[in-house]
Amino acid sequence: MKIVLLIACSMLLSTARADDGYDLWLKYRTVSDSRMLATYRKMIRGWTVIAESPSANAARVELRRALPLLLDGDIPELKTASARFLLIVGTTDSPGLSRWKEKLKGIPADGFLITRGAVNGNEAVIVVSQSDAGMLYGVFHLFRLMQTHQPISETLSAPRTRVRILNHWDNLDRTVERGYAGFSLWDWHKLPGYLDPRYTDYARANASIGINATVLTNVNANALILTPQYLEKVAALANVFRPYGIKVYLTARFSAPVEIGKLSTADPLNAEVRTWWKNKIEEIYSYIPDFGGFTVKANSEGQPGPHNYGRSHAEGANMLAEALQPHGGIVMWRAFVYDHNVPEDRTKQAYNEFKPLDGKFLPNVMIQVKNGPLDFQPREPFHPLFGAMPSTSIMPEFQITQEYLGFATHLFYQAPLFKECLDSDTFVNGNGSLVSSVVDGTLHGHTLTGMAGVANIGNDRNWCGHPIAQANWYAFGRLAWDHQLSPGRIAEEWIALTFNNESNVVATLKRMMLASREITVKYMTPLGLHHIMGWSHHYGPAPWIKDKERADWTSVYYHRADDEGIGFDRTRTGSNAIGQYHPSVQAKYSAPANCPEQDLLWFHHVSWDFKMASGRPLWDELCYAYQQGVDSVAWMQQQWESLRGSVDPERFAHVASLLKIQHQEAQWWRDACLLYFQQFSKKEIPIGVERPDKTLKYFQDLEFPYAPGIRPRW
Ligand code: GCU
Repeated sequence: MKIVLLIACSMLLSTARADDGYDLWLKYRTVSDSRMLATYRKMIRGWTVIAESPSANAARVELRRALPLLLDGDIPELKTASARFLLIVGTTDSPGLSRWKEKLKGIPADGFLITRGAVNGNEAVIVVSQSDAGMLYGVFHLFRLMQTHQPISETLSAPRTRVRILNHWDNLDRTVERGYAGFSLWDWHKLPGYLDPRYTDYARANASIGINATVLTNVNANALILTPQYLEKVAALANVFRPYGIKVYLTARFSAPVEIGKLSTADPLNAEVRTWWKNKIEEIYSYIPDFGGFTVKANSEGQPGPHNYGRSHAEGANMLAEALQPHGGIVMWRAFVYDHNVPEDRTKQAYNEFKPLDGKFLPNVMIQVKNGPLDFQPREPFHPLFGAMPSTSIMPEFQITQEYLGFATHLFYQAPLFKECLDSDTFVNGNGSLVSSVVDGTLHGHTLTGMAGVANIGNDRNWCGHPIAQANWYAFGRLAWDHQLSPGRIAEEWIALTFNNESNVVATLKRMMLASREITVKYMTPLGLHHIMGWSHHYGPAPWIKDKERADWTSVYYHRADDEGIGFDRTRTGSNAIGQYHPSVQAKYSAPANCPEQDLLWFHHVSWDFKMASGRPLWDELCYAYQQGVDSVAWMQQQWESLRGSVDPERFAHVASLLKIQHQEAQWWRDACLLYFQQFSKKEIPIGVERPDKTLKYFQDLEFPYAPGIRPRW
């Protein structure tokens, strides 16, 4: 009896462990399609890595782990390529692989080729790259092909951006600003002595999707990270990440020379300050020889910067860039700047400040621009700086963590949001001047390119809090590698790798994921509404926020609801933010009658009776949008329910519970927003839209002092 119980317990435990989401998309389940399994087995009877480097070793470890699982058998590792039907991994410098040099010539070094051919007269599957990291990317891609049951046919793949970087908004006390998946992964207290095995798994996950860079610390920076006490810890992390092709970056607090250097100023033109940074950067490189560089938030939301000394962003950025340049480091200088003392639409301020600086930045500076001109809202038009600074490298910043998108509680697949921005046409060099072509450098001929994503990773067992939120990390990496990939294709891949390949599972979850962005827009901020969430923590609806110390942090500043109507007039009769775009973009948005309805209230203040395409007045349309959002979450719940038994019970239950919360919160958004706006529209909620069962006051009185992700005050 005891033995039976023991066996039963251990079986239960092992299923639980297998299903907790820890393995992300690196599960390596045995290929379930027996025909494909037989084909792969025939082609790969053993393997060898013909290269000697830390990355080659990382590839070996991964092959040892993955192949026996994927192919359900012992796939021996050979020392040399001396047998038939091997998987051979190496670089173009590896013996026998130089003939693929020609094929790889001209593509970025991190690109790879997966092909079949003869090596030493033996037929083989070959993964070859010009670089060590590329070799690893190729191996991970081969696993992806096998897990999605694709034929192993010739694949040549290369990244379209150079710096594919996660931004961790992690504080040294391990809280994570806008983090909803637990505490920071970086256990600073135990570093450098204790290296959590999770650091390696983090690196593996990133390498598997082509992410090659990580900023470890919050943009609201703490200068202590630049002291030897912490640099030693940073170096320990860099050592773990290096074999996986990942470089470490830090945030530089502009006032560090004062705070930790004991200088009296941080003026970027002051000689002592410049020497201080030069020495500091040399010191950093003595710890981390391949240190990537800095991300800087300056003169924004209270962070110090060059303006404190009457200097420009270019002068600030260039000072750091100059000191980093001899070491090969770069500066990612953020354009997220706005000042409530400036009497100007907040969404215009970044463009106003940065556009005149075009051409003034050193070549190792990139300007990091959020996807939209406000702040990671469920929907914003693309940032007008894309395309507006042809002589400057511009990189986009997306927010993978769901600050404004339901935290880690709501199912919101972000690839459609990322793609909407990347696919937007700036028209600056005529039709088809897409944001993506600014980003990959082709539009204006830049070679320093990148894409940043604010990480949604914490120490939750499943990394991202919501089991489906892992897909956003995955999608960010895949799109940073290749912005041409479609959200649907990325979703299919991720589902197959993370759940299983059953067609019903892939189709159903993909449908839910692809719909989730519009659904959330509908129950939070339909028709172009924006920034109407809770004060400071940003949790839940609060369109009533007003009279705070900064108008540009209130809701009424953005929705401008009054007896006449609702929306922010950003046309020529209003703030003229629209004037920052190319005339062709302006033409698309300038008249309320033609403006895409999804952006209507972003650009226009329109009357409650404004006639929408459906023939309904705006007020009714708004009410129906909120209702549709709620109904569509119920639809997602039904869809998910149909997968009961087809996905593992642990994650099934987890997602089902979160969808229930999402449904409740969607109702909360609908009721709170409609009751609030109804005060101005003075119209009935139309038939077919559920009547709120609580008062507006009830919603206004709700308080969430411990909502997660708030910036600690030190
Ligand atoms: C948002 C967010 C802040 C963050 C800021 C930034 O405003 O709420 O927490 O610091 O973006 O991107 O710098």
